[in-house]
Amino acid sequence: MNIYDRIKKDHDDAREVMDKIKETTARAEKTRLELFTKFKLDMWAHHKVEEAVFYSFLRDDTKMSKDSYEALNEHHVANGFLEELDTFPVTSEEWGVKFGALSELIEHHMDEEEKDFFPKARKLLSKEQADLMGKRFDARKKVVLAAIMPIDEDELKAA
Ligand SMILES: [Fe+2]
Ligand SMILES: [Fe+2]
Repeated sequence: MNIYDRIKKDHDDAREVMDKIKETTARAEKTRLELFTKFKLDMWAHHKVEEAVFYSFLRDDTKMSKDSYEALNEHHVANGFLEELDTFPVTSEEWGVKFGALSELIEHHMDEEEKDFFPKARKLLSKEQADLMGKRFDARKKVVLAAIMPIDEDELKAA
């Protein structure tokens, strides 16, 4: 899978989870919390790996530099926002409102990557480079996600 398809796969998964979260009511506390925790960790890993694999290359291109820094700034804002959501009970009205704002920000960012960055990157990267980046993205994402998962409580109790 090349880098464009691999990133798009994560984006589509994120869109699906965001829709699911928005469909939950404040009464579905457990479901909401489970979905959000999964979403949060996945987004953090997505952003960091995307920066290391995709943006580290684009950033050095003079034509892409400014846009790339803007995109990195959006990652930064979204990551902090995800953290902030943890400070409100998922059942509160604030949480719902904040999640709505966060999902708009992320949606806008992902659309821009797909519509703006991908066509530009296609001009800079050979097919082979895009394939290699896709492979690296996939492998690194697995490692990062595993590293930031909360430790398994059952495993801990059994130790
Ligand atoms: Fe991004
Ligand atoms: Fe992305």
